[in-house]
Amino acid sequence: MVRLRTPAPHHVAQSKAEIEAAVRRLAPFHHAIDLPFGLSTFVPELSRQTRERTRLQTFLDHAWKDILTACGGSLKGKSVLDIACNCGGFSVQAARSGAEYVYGIDIDPHYIEQANFVKDAAGLQNVKFQQFDLLNLDPSIHGKFDLVLCLGILYHLENPVLSMKRIAAVTGDVLVVDTTLMKVPLINPVLDRWPLWHMRRVSATTSDAKNISTSRWRPDEFCQFAPNGTAVRSLLEYCGFAEIVRLKPTAKGLESRYYSGRRATFLARRQSSLTSNH
Ligand SMILES: C[S@@+](CC[C@H](N)C(=O)[O-])C[C@H]1O[C@@H](n2cnc3c(N)ncnc32)[C@H](O)[C@@H]1O
Repeated sequence: MVRLRTPAPHHVAQSKAEIEAAVRRLAPFHHAIDLPFGLSTFVPELSRQTRERTRLQTFLDHAWKDILTACGGSLKGKSVLDIACNCGGFSVQAARSGAEYVYGIDIDPHYIEQANFVKDAAGLQNVKFQQFDLLNLDPSIHGKFDLVLCLGILYHLENPVLSMKRIAAVTGDVLVVDTTLMKVPLINPVLDRWPLWHMRRVSATTSDAKNISTSRWRPDEFCQFAPNGTAVRSLLEYCGFAEIVRLKPTAKGLESRYYSGRRATFLARRQSSLTSNH
């Protein structure tokens, strides 16, 4: 596969004061990432919402073990694509879990600046972050990745089907989709019989937005579609995935949206594990 590798490593160690100053300049971060000197990207007094403290750890507690299992027990030697990587918490986790190469893309330059700061502060050399629109993913340029993380993005897209086709085209083996789901009180189980998408229009982001750590890429009004679980499965099947598993929220202490079913994680594999061993 063609890999967009970073130039030769030239990591410059940063002092504690330099890291602290950069965190304050770039905050708020959407992921609370551990940094050297016992520091973190999470600064309580600069945070806009609780999720900045909980997002990364909740997802790791909920899904990371299953992701490693789907990848054969570890990420050793694997290539990982982190789509809509934001400040890079999941890319860092993939690198720290032994991945050979991690490529994180996000459409917003500020989040890429945050991610590059984290990468340098943490001294990670096999990670590359790039400002890039997922709609331009192309296997003839990027190759295929063993593991693709598509977390917190499906329900933000104006073109979810086209986007998922592009994402599937660069997925060699395992695709993880973590998404908000459409949820209608009381009649939701009835609606789950059909693949449905709930359309909503969201307004442009302003600098005082509570969710500025994820929404600053939206300068104009935007149209978004929240799928139900049946629609996610159906879309993944349509994109050529043979095995699709919806993870149960079994870990304790997750964000409540995972227990309520408003948020869910799907593991999809190109080949069914039931048939690939035969
Ligand atoms: C809700 S955040 C999710 C961040 C992270 N993946 C997570 O799950 O915590 C959505 C991210 O998608 C990025 N994004 C939006 N549209 C995109 C696109 N077309 N291509 C790449 N990134 C995009 C935004 O800049 C933002 O960082």
